[in-house]
Amino acid sequence: MIKKIAVLGAGTMGHGIAQVAAMSGYQVFMRDIKQDFLDSGMSRIRSSLDKFVKKGKMTSEEKESILSRIKTTLDLEEAVREADFVIEAVPEIYDIKAETFREVDKKAPEHAILATNTSSLPITELASVTSRPDKFVGMHFFNPPQLMKLVEVVRGNETSDETVKVTRDLAISMGKEPVVVAKDVPGFIVNRVLVRWLNEACLIKEREGKGLILIDSALKGKVGLPMGAFELSDFIGLDVMRDIIEAMIKRGFVLTPCKSWKELPEGGKLGRKSGYGFYDWSSGRPNIPADPSSPFDPLEVLSMAINEAAWLVRNGVASIEDVDKAVTLGLNFPKGPLRLADEWGLDKVKAIIEDKKRRYGLPEYQLDPLLEEKVSKGELGLKAGRGFYDYGLRELSFGSVVYKETPPIAWIRVNRPDKLNAINLDVVNGILRSLKEAEKDEIKVVVITGEGRAFSAGADVSMFKDLKPVEAFELSKKLNESFREIREFPKPVIAMINGFALGGGLELAMACDIRIASNKAQFGQPEITLGIMVGAGGSYRLPELVGIAKAKELLFTGDIIGAEDALRIGLVNRVVPHDKLEEETRSFALKVAERPSRSLQIYKAVMNGSPQDIESLAFGLIFSTEDSKEGINAFLEKRKPKFKGE
Ligand code: COA
Repeated sequence: MIKKIAVLGAGTMGHGIAQVAAMSGYQVFMRDIKQDFLDSGMSRIRSSLDKFVKKGKMTSEEKESILSRIKTTLDLEEAVREADFVIEAVPEIYDIKAETFREVDKKAPEHAILATNTSSLPITELASVTSRPDKFVGMHFFNPPQLMKLVEVVRGNETSDETVKVTRDLAISMGKEPVVVAKDVPGFIVNRVLVRWLNEACLIKEREGKGLILIDSALKGKVGLPMGAFELSDFIGLDVMRDIIEAMIKRGFVLTPCKSWKELPEGGKLGRKSGYGFYDWSSGRPNIPADPSSPFDPLEVLSMAINEAAWLVRNGVASIEDVDKAVTLGLNFPKGPLRLADEWGLDKVKAIIEDKKRRYGLPEYQLDPLLEEKVSKGELGLKAGRGFYDYGLRELSFGSVVYKETPPIAWIRVNRPDKLNAINLDVVNGILRSLKEAEKDEIKVVVITGEGRAFSAGADVSMFKDLKPVEAFELSKKLNESFREIREFPKPVIAMINGFALGGGLELAMACDIRIASNKAQFGQPEITLGIMVGAGGSYRLPELVGIAKAKELLFTGDIIGAEDALRIGLVNRVVPHDKLEEETRSFALKVAERPSRSLQIYKAVMNGSPQDIESLAFGLIFSTEDSKEGINAFLEKRKPKFKGE
């Protein structure tokens, strides 16, 4: 049972860890070698606690009681004599740490666990200077410890299961989210992944002359990283980056460091703290826009983080979930590298790494065997239903329509490629049955597309042969009502337009909320060339999208236009290269899928603006009134209601 914790070092990490421990109810002894260091550590703790009080998150009494739990001392023996757990946060120099532990080992009680907050030194080696390597562990906090949730609990070769468990539990009791690093590898999890992608960005800049802002904007805009590679390197400090990389390479990490890690610090450019690094920070944080449509592919950089993550999993250093959790919490990634790999497609990751290997031949461009194996088994990620994660792929056939689930996305594919996906009643019913399937909670977005070279080349003309006027009326009514179900489906529906979208095919696409088109797609309402007219929404949806004049032009001529023209007149939202259509659509769909589903549902209802939708929205709203409760209760209790207008 841990009650007393000794924290050695009152610097940035030490004082933060001491504060977190005291805030979690532990008695803390903070030790440093100079009174000045202790005073400054304590004053930083005080001002951090003051902020909590000011924000109303803590009372002054709580603050005082936390402070009363922290004692300071210059005497190592006094600090550790009664400690149940010792956390060392002295400078990152092996000899200093080893010397500290030699002494701690002599002075701390036999049962005490000794933990080091090192980010780069080998745990096993430090453990070996003590007489209790089984009770020695890495406990790597992230800066600032008060805010960052992640703690890497690192097992040395001789660390016991019990020590790992106690350390994990301690981290949890301190409000942290520990990840166990089962092997003492250089850089643990987070720094290995970090160094890979930061170095890769830097190498790309050096050898390919790509601009800093180009790369960083793509990483921010296309992946949602809070900072790009160069911005983050500057933020961490280029001298710190250099030291981390050197320490890891010394311990056998295979990496070809980019020249800037040495050259910039040598020229006094240390990043944010010195005012200059890759960027100019002299008047504050550089303004690097997030560019979601950047021409730079962020996978060029992040494929190396993914390859490293695969290495960690294959070598049993951490589980898939833990690698992703560590990177998400430690680097503020929106998603872990393995989850991102699944979304991008492991085949694409493999192709990029192999291309680098072919072109530049560096040893770190060796594709990890785990990635190789997954690709060869067809486990390509989200699109295959399985990659690093299992997506519970389900595929159903409804006549000429194939319905596939890769949660959170459902894919509805019209599957009559030999007839260019011409729409008949079988197709319509297949789409409707697919939509029914997509109602389940785990599906957040629906994509409709076509197999082969057409999205759909229109209503099946063979249905029109000898059609009587009344039958034609009923057919049109059926198509209109069916497409309205798409329009009013409570989740976003995206048309992924892979080729021809003509006649009823274009009307199907227009019933969707968003249209993403291949640059090879073609659009038109050629009904007039058959001597007939549109019958599935074209007369009202087309003007809604492109305006009356353009709509009339397309309807009166029956002309077929290309994707760029369709984009220009507002018929589609985006045009993307044909071979990237699925990838871009998936990434767009995933982004929307992260948004709150109720907001999306209500947006759709409001923007459809049908009398049915407006009534339903109002019906929902009326249930927020007190009078509605009163009215219903009164009826059920057989009494007269007392309405208050509330
Ligand atoms: N209804 C029924 N069958 C259709 C169809 C439609 N709307 N559109 C294409 N097909 C069939 C073709 O008849 C052909 O079938 P077949 O191989 O059994 O003869 C097959 O799909 C391939 O089409 P094809 O015309 O050979 O391809 P293409 O590349 O030469 O031409 C189009 C492509 C889209 C220009 C041409 O198929 C076309 O004009 N289709 C009709 C478009 C239309 O008028 N749509 C509105 C209907 S209301």
